[in-house]
Amino acid sequence: MGRYDGRIVVVTGAARGIGFGTATRFAEEGASVAIIDLDESAAAEAAAKLPLVEGAKALGIGCDVSNGESAEAAITRTVAELGGIHVLVNNAGITRDNLLFKMTEDDWDLVMNVHLKGAFLMTKAAQKHFVEQKYGKILNLSSVSALGNRGQANYSAAKMGVQGFTRTLGIELGPFGINANAIAPGFIATEMTDATAARLKMDVEEFRRLNAEANPVRRVGFPEDIAAAAAFLCSDEASYITGQTLYVDGGAKLG
Ligand SMILES: NC(=O)c1ccc[n+]([C@@H]2O[C@H](COP(=O)([O-])OP(=O)(O)OC[C@H]3O[C@@H](n4cnc5c(N)ncnc54)[C@H](O)[C@@H]3O)[C@@H](O)[C@H]2O)c1
Repeated sequence: MGRYDGRIVVVTGAARGIGFGTATRFAEEGASVAIIDLDESAAAEAAAKLPLVEGAKALGIGCDVSNGESAEAAITRTVAELGGIHVLVNNAGITRDNLLFKMTEDDWDLVMNVHLKGAFLMTKAAQKHFVEQKYGKILNLSSVSALGNRGQANYSAAKMGVQGFTRTLGIELGPFGINANAIAPGFIATEMTDATAARLKMDVEEFRRLNAEANPVRRVGFPEDIAAAAAFLCSDEASYITGQTLYVDGGAKLG
Protein backbone atom coordinates (compact mmCIF):
# COMPACT_ATOMS: atom_id res chain seq x y z
CA MET A 1 0.00 0.00 0.00
CA GLY A 2 1.30 3.43 -0.96
CA ARG A 3 1.09 6.53 1.24
CA TYR A 4 -0.90 8.27 -1.50
CA ASP A 5 -3.28 5.49 -2.57
CA GLY A 6 -6.60 7.09 -3.52
CA ARG A 7 -5.16 10.62 -3.20
CA ILE A 8 -5.38 13.24 -5.93
CA VAL A 9 -2.38 15.52 -6.31
CA VAL A 10 -1.95 18.66 -8.42
CA VAL A 11 1.58 19.81 -9.25
CA THR A 12 2.09 23.09 -11.14
CA GLY A 13 5.01 23.60 -13.52
CA ALA A 14 5.34 19.82 -13.65
CA ALA A 15 6.09 19.21 -17.34
CA ARG A 16 9.77 18.99 -16.35
CA GLY A 17 12.33 19.54 -13.60
CA ILE A 18 11.46 19.51 -9.90
CA GLY A 19 7.72 19.50 -10.65
CA PHE A 20 7.96 16.39 -12.81
CA GLY A 21 10.23 14.66 -10.28
CA THR A 22 7.72 15.42 -7.54
CA ALA A 23 4.73 14.31 -9.62
CA THR A 24 6.60 11.05 -10.36
CA ARG A 25 7.17 10.38 -6.65
CA PHE A 26 3.49 10.96 -5.79
CA ALA A 27 2.47 8.63 -8.64
CA GLU A 28 4.91 5.94 -7.43
CA GLU A 29 3.29 6.17 -3.99
CA GLY A 30 -0.20 5.60 -5.39
CA ALA A 31 -1.62 9.04 -6.25
CA SER A 32 -3.60 10.17 -9.26
CA VAL A 33 -1.81 13.25 -10.55
CA ALA A 34 -2.71 16.37 -12.52
CA ILE A 35 0.31 17.91 -14.21
CA ILE A 36 -0.19 21.60 -14.83
CA ASP A 37 2.04 23.61 -17.14
CA LEU A 38 1.87 26.45 -19.66
CA ASP A 39 1.70 24.20 -22.70
CA GLU A 40 -1.07 21.57 -22.59
CA SER A 41 0.68 19.12 -24.93
CA ALA A 42 3.90 19.23 -22.84
CA ALA A 43 1.78 18.68 -19.71
CA ALA A 44 -0.05 15.75 -21.34
CA GLU A 45 3.22 14.23 -22.55
CA ALA A 46 4.66 14.40 -19.02
CA ALA A 47 1.43 12.97 -17.54
CA ALA A 48 1.69 10.00 -19.92
CA LYS A 49 5.16 9.19 -18.52
CA LEU A 50 4.09 8.95 -14.86
CA PRO A 51 4.59 5.54 -13.20
CA LEU A 52 0.96 5.15 -12.08
CA VAL A 53 -0.15 2.31 -9.83
CA GLU A 54 -3.18 0.28 -10.85
CA GLY A 55 -6.39 2.31 -10.73
CA ALA A 56 -4.64 5.70 -10.57
CA LYS A 57 -5.08 8.29 -13.30
CA ALA A 58 -3.00 11.12 -14.74
CA LEU A 59 -4.03 14.30 -16.45
CA GLY A 60 -2.11 17.06 -18.23
CA ILE A 61 -3.61 20.56 -18.12
CA GLY A 62 -2.47 23.69 -19.95
CA CYS A 63 -2.69 26.59 -17.50
CA ASP A 64 -0.98 29.86 -16.71
CA VAL A 65 -0.94 29.94 -12.91
CA SER A 66 -0.62 33.74 -12.90
CA ASN A 67 -4.05 34.09 -14.52
CA GLY A 68 -7.04 33.82 -12.19
CA GLU A 69 -9.48 32.27 -14.67
CA SER A 70 -6.88 29.79 -15.91
CA ALA A 71 -5.96 28.75 -12.35
CA GLU A 72 -9.61 28.31 -11.36
CA ALA A 73 -10.35 26.29 -14.53
CA ALA A 74 -7.38 23.97 -13.89
CA ILE A 75 -8.62 23.09 -10.40
CA THR A 76 -12.22 22.67 -11.61
CA ARG A 77 -11.03 20.31 -14.37
CA THR A 78 -8.89 18.29 -11.96
CA VAL A 79 -11.84 17.80 -9.62
CA ALA A 80 -14.16 16.88 -12.52
CA GLU A 81 -11.77 14.48 -14.27
CA LEU A 82 -9.81 12.93 -11.39
CA GLY A 83 -12.62 13.05 -8.83
CA GLY A 84 -11.30 15.54 -6.26
CA ILE A 85 -8.15 17.17 -4.91
CA HIS A 86 -6.15 16.39 -1.76
CA VAL A 87 -2.71 17.92 -2.39
CA LEU A 88 -1.60 21.09 -4.19
CA VAL A 89 2.07 21.69 -4.99
CA ASN A 90 2.79 25.25 -6.14
CA ASN A 91 5.99 24.64 -8.06
CA ALA A 92 5.67 26.65 -11.32
CA GLY A 93 8.47 29.16 -11.60
CA ILE A 94 10.62 31.35 -13.81
CA THR A 95 13.72 33.49 -13.40
CA ARG A 96 14.48 36.90 -14.91
CA ASP A 97 17.86 37.51 -13.26
CA ASN A 98 19.72 40.79 -13.47
CA LEU A 99 21.54 43.20 -11.20
CA LEU A 100 19.13 45.71 -9.72
CA PHE A 101 20.23 48.62 -11.91
CA LYS A 102 19.56 46.57 -15.05
CA MET A 103 16.38 44.82 -13.86
CA THR A 104 13.29 46.02 -15.72
CA GLU A 105 9.80 46.52 -14.38
CA ASP A 106 8.75 43.59 -16.58
CA ASP A 107 11.43 41.35 -15.01
CA TRP A 108 10.00 42.24 -11.61
CA ASP A 109 6.33 41.80 -12.54
CA LEU A 110 6.78 38.49 -14.39
CA VAL A 111 8.61 36.84 -11.51
CA MET A 112 6.17 38.16 -8.89
CA ASN A 113 3.20 37.10 -10.98
CA VAL A 114 4.27 33.50 -11.52
CA HIS A 115 5.70 32.70 -8.08
CA LEU A 116 3.65 34.78 -5.71
CA LYS A 117 0.39 35.61 -7.47
CA GLY A 118 0.40 32.13 -9.04
CA ALA A 119 0.67 30.42 -5.66
CA PHE A 120 -2.06 32.71 -4.30
CA LEU A 121 -4.46 32.05 -7.19
CA MET A 122 -3.96 28.28 -7.26
CA THR A 123 -4.29 28.04 -3.47
CA LYS A 124 -7.44 30.15 -3.46
CA ALA A 125 -8.98 27.90 -6.13
CA ALA A 126 -8.04 24.71 -4.23
CA GLN A 127 -8.87 25.86 -0.70
CA LYS A 128 -12.63 25.78 -1.13
CA HIS A 129 -12.47 22.06 -1.91
CA PHE A 130 -10.04 21.53 0.98
CA VAL A 131 -12.19 23.45 3.47
CA GLU A 132 -15.36 21.66 2.36
CA GLN A 133 -13.82 18.22 2.87
CA LYS A 134 -11.82 19.34 5.95
CA TYR A 135 -8.65 17.94 4.40
CA GLY A 136 -5.88 19.34 2.27
CA LYS A 137 -2.11 19.66 1.91
CA ILE A 138 -0.43 22.66 0.32
CA LEU A 139 3.25 22.73 -0.55
CA ASN A 140 4.94 25.84 -1.90
CA LEU A 141 8.34 26.04 -3.54
CA SER A 142 10.58 28.70 -2.00
CA SER A 143 14.36 28.79 -2.52
CA VAL A 144 17.64 29.40 -0.68
CA SER A 145 17.62 32.61 -2.74
CA ALA A 146 14.92 33.85 -0.34
CA LEU A 147 17.84 34.67 1.98
CA GLY A 148 19.33 36.96 -0.68
CA ASN A 149 21.19 36.29 -3.92
CA ARG A 150 23.11 38.60 -6.23
CA GLY A 151 21.20 39.24 -9.47
CA GLN A 152 17.91 37.95 -8.06
CA ALA A 153 16.20 40.90 -6.31
CA ASN A 154 12.88 39.91 -7.91
CA TYR A 155 13.22 36.16 -7.34
CA SER A 156 14.51 36.39 -3.76
CA ALA A 157 11.70 38.80 -2.82
CA ALA A 158 9.14 36.43 -4.36
CA LYS A 159 10.65 33.37 -2.67
CA MET A 160 10.73 35.05 0.77
CA GLY A 161 7.16 36.17 0.05
CA VAL A 162 6.27 32.52 -0.48
CA GLN A 163 7.52 31.77 3.04
CA GLY A 164 5.31 34.49 4.57
CA PHE A 165 2.37 33.29 2.49
CA THR A 166 2.95 29.73 3.73
CA ARG A 167 3.02 30.79 7.39
CA THR A 168 -0.24 32.68 6.97
CA LEU A 169 -1.88 29.71 5.24
CA GLY A 170 -0.79 27.59 8.19
CA ILE A 171 -2.55 29.93 10.62
CA GLU A 172 -5.74 30.49 8.58
CA LEU A 173 -6.30 26.97 7.27
CA GLY A 174 -5.09 24.83 10.18
CA PRO A 175 -8.55 24.77 11.82
CA PHE A 176 -9.95 23.22 8.62
CA GLY A 177 -7.64 20.20 8.54
CA ILE A 178 -5.29 21.80 6.03
CA ASN A 179 -1.49 21.85 6.30
CA ALA A 180 0.68 24.30 4.36
CA ASN A 181 4.44 24.06 4.17
CA ALA A 182 7.26 25.15 1.90
CA ILE A 183 10.48 23.64 0.63
CA ALA A 184 13.44 25.90 -0.09
CA PRO A 185 15.73 24.01 -2.46
CA GLY A 186 19.39 24.79 -2.95
CA PHE A 187 21.06 24.11 -6.30
CA ILE A 188 18.98 21.47 -8.13
CA ALA A 189 20.14 20.24 -11.54
CA THR A 190 17.30 21.22 -13.90
CA GLU A 191 16.78 23.33 -17.01
CA MET A 192 16.41 26.35 -14.71
CA THR A 193 19.99 26.03 -13.36
CA ASP A 194 21.24 25.03 -16.85
CA ALA A 195 19.84 28.36 -18.08
CA THR A 196 21.75 30.14 -15.28
CA ALA A 197 24.95 28.44 -16.50
CA ALA A 198 24.22 29.68 -20.03
CA ARG A 199 23.63 33.22 -18.74
CA LEU A 200 26.98 33.13 -16.94
CA LYS A 201 28.54 31.74 -20.16
CA MET A 202 29.61 28.57 -18.33
CA ASP A 203 29.53 24.94 -19.37
CA VAL A 204 26.61 23.14 -17.62
CA GLU A 205 28.81 20.32 -16.24
CA GLU A 206 31.46 22.78 -15.02
CA PHE A 207 28.74 24.92 -13.36
CA ARG A 208 27.35 21.85 -11.58
CA ARG A 209 30.85 20.71 -10.55
CA LEU A 210 31.68 24.12 -9.02
CA ASN A 211 28.36 24.19 -7.16
CA ALA A 212 28.94 20.64 -5.87
CA GLU A 213 32.45 21.56 -4.70
CA ALA A 214 31.13 24.55 -2.72
CA ASN A 215 28.35 22.52 -1.05
CA PRO A 216 28.90 20.91 2.40
CA VAL A 217 27.69 17.52 1.12
CA ARG A 218 29.83 17.93 -2.05
CA ARG A 219 27.10 17.32 -4.59
CA VAL A 220 24.32 19.17 -6.36
CA GLY A 221 20.70 18.31 -5.69
CA PHE A 222 18.32 16.48 -8.02
CA PRO A 223 14.54 16.67 -8.42
CA GLU A 224 14.31 13.38 -6.46
CA ASP A 225 15.77 15.13 -3.39
CA ILE A 226 12.91 17.63 -3.41
CA ALA A 227 10.34 14.96 -4.27
CA ALA A 228 11.29 12.90 -1.20
CA ALA A 229 10.80 15.89 1.12
CA ALA A 230 7.55 16.80 -0.66
CA ALA A 231 6.16 13.30 -0.25
CA PHE A 232 6.84 13.51 3.51
CA LEU A 233 5.51 17.04 4.07
CA CYS A 234 2.24 16.32 2.22
CA SER A 235 1.68 13.00 4.01
CA ASP A 236 -0.43 12.35 7.09
CA GLU A 237 2.77 11.57 9.01
CA ALA A 238 3.48 15.32 8.82
CA SER A 239 0.05 16.45 10.02
CA TYR A 240 1.54 18.30 13.05
CA ILE A 241 3.88 20.29 10.81
CA THR A 242 2.47 23.46 9.26
CA GLY A 243 3.62 26.93 8.21
CA GLN A 244 7.22 25.68 7.96
CA THR A 245 9.91 26.08 5.34
CA LEU A 246 12.29 23.14 5.02
CA TYR A 247 15.66 23.95 3.42
CA VAL A 248 16.69 21.06 1.17
CA ASP A 249 20.08 22.33 0.07
CA GLY A 250 22.85 20.02 1.26
CA GLY A 251 23.61 22.62 3.95
CA ALA A 252 24.45 25.32 1.38
CA LYS A 253 23.16 28.20 3.50
CA LEU A 254 24.61 27.06 6.85
CA GLY A 255 27.57 29.36 6.75
N1 LIG B 1 16.43 24.35 -9.86
C1 LIG B 1 16.80 24.93 -8.74
O1 LIG B 1 17.99 24.96 -8.39
C2 LIG B 1 15.78 25.57 -7.83
C3 LIG B 1 16.23 26.06 -6.59
C4 LIG B 1 15.32 26.64 -5.74
C5 LIG B 1 13.99 26.75 -6.08
N2 LIG B 1 13.56 26.28 -7.29
C6 LIG B 1 12.14 26.43 -7.60
O2 LIG B 1 11.58 25.17 -7.90
C7 LIG B 1 10.53 25.31 -8.86
C8 LIG B 1 10.81 24.42 -10.07
O3 LIG B 1 12.06 24.78 -10.63
P1 LIG B 1 12.79 23.94 -11.79
O4 LIG B 1 14.24 24.08 -11.56
O5 LIG B 1 12.18 22.60 -11.91
O6 LIG B 1 12.42 24.87 -13.06
P2 LIG B 1 12.13 24.51 -14.59
O7 LIG B 1 12.36 25.79 -15.32
O8 LIG B 1 12.87 23.30 -15.01
O9 LIG B 1 10.56 24.17 -14.57
C9 LIG B 1 9.60 25.15 -14.28
C10 LIG B 1 8.30 24.76 -14.95
O10 LIG B 1 7.32 25.76 -14.61
C11 LIG B 1 6.55 26.03 -15.79
N3 LIG B 1 5.96 27.37 -15.70
C12 LIG B 1 6.58 28.58 -15.78
N4 LIG B 1 5.69 29.57 -15.71
C13 LIG B 1 4.47 28.99 -15.57
C14 LIG B 1 3.14 29.51 -15.46
N5 LIG B 1 2.91 30.84 -15.48
N6 LIG B 1 2.11 28.64 -15.34
C15 LIG B 1 2.34 27.29 -15.34
N7 LIG B 1 3.58 26.75 -15.45
C16 LIG B 1 4.62 27.59 -15.56
C17 LIG B 1 7.58 25.93 -16.92
O11 LIG B 1 6.94 25.78 -18.19
C18 LIG B 1 8.39 24.73 -16.49
O12 LIG B 1 7.87 23.51 -16.98
C19 LIG B 1 10.46 26.79 -9.19
O13 LIG B 1 9.49 27.43 -8.38
C20 LIG B 1 11.84 27.28 -8.81
O14 LIG B 1 11.86 28.67 -8.54
C21 LIG B 1 14.43 25.70 -8.17
